[in-house]
Amino acid sequence: MRLSGKTAIVTGGANGIGAGCVRRLADEGANVVIADIDDAAGEALAADLGATVIYARADVSQRASVEALFDEAITAFGAVDILVNNAAFVHKPGVIANFLEYSDEAWRKTLAINLTGMFYCSQSAARLMAKRGQGGVIINMSSGGASRAHRHMFGYDASKGGIEAATRAMALDLASLNIRVNAVVPGSTRVDHGTSVGDSPIAPSAVIPLPRQGRPDDIAAAVAFLASDDAAYITGARIVVDGGMDAQLRSPAVDYSYDYSEHL
Ligand SMILES: NC(=O)c1ccc[n+]([C@@H]2O[C@H](COP(=O)([O-])OP(=O)(O)OC[C@H]3O[C@@H](n4cnc5c(N)ncnc54)[C@H](O)[C@@H]3O)[C@@H](O)[C@H]2O)c1
Repeated sequence: MRLSGKTAIVTGGANGIGAGCVRRLADEGANVVIADIDDAAGEALAADLGATVIYARADVSQRASVEALFDEAITAFGAVDILVNNAAFVHKPGVIANFLEYSDEAWRKTLAINLTGMFYCSQSAARLMAKRGQGGVIINMSSGGASRAHRHMFGYDASKGGIEAATRAMALDLASLNIRVNAVVPGSTRVDHGTSVGDSPIAPSAVIPLPRQGRPDDIAAAVAFLASDDAAYITGARIVVDGGMDAQLRSPAVDYSYDYSEHL
């Protein structure tokens, strides 16, 4: 119950990693606003978790929609202490395409949701937190694609690189207000409607050092830590939660193809 008395907004909180964050923050005692465009999933999750969790329809790419979201959060719970910028244009047709075929529409939509959405939500949150004078926490969902590329995900990777740069820039501008800004970097994480290594013929153990895909709970644990006072002196940082993917140069399948027997 590290977050008792706090209020959190989780964008994209109706499904996948965001839903895992909603559950974990609620378990830690926070009031939570699920901000999403998937009404059915958002309402079902809120109903499942009780009166301290509400669903608010919000399209993070629209400034007016984001302002209405924060008004709704204040009306329901009186303040916003924690913002998790998790919503993203992902697992959708058009997101995955070779650079030669990458469309104008996919580029615009990816940046509008992933990057501009993060800007709108963070600015609304930071202005409220600054006015209230009690600090606050912003957590941005990044991706391994911010620092190393996926094939055929040019726009997505560019948006995530922007998110990590923005995390550092916001952390500096907001530090004197005790508003901490950090990023969480998930690895391949199994979500209901996602496509990731689990759907490929290659077993996760062939590419992930801790030989399984991540779960939303794994990511939510890092988010809960950063949201809590246990992370009171952490800002401008990134926590990688990827089973060791970022640490490795080559996948096990490639490394084990060498004959190490004479070195054992
Ligand atoms: N699943 C993975 O393997 C993985 C890996 C690295 C990073 N991530 C990141 O984690 C985050 C969550 O990904 P996920 O896999 O859970 O995806 P998901 O598709 O399961 O969830 C994304 C949620 O965002 C919502 N959303 C989309 N557009 C929106 C908008 N305009 N306004 C508000 N909500 C909107 C969707 O309705 C959905 O509920 C994303 O930022 C993603 O880039 C995921």
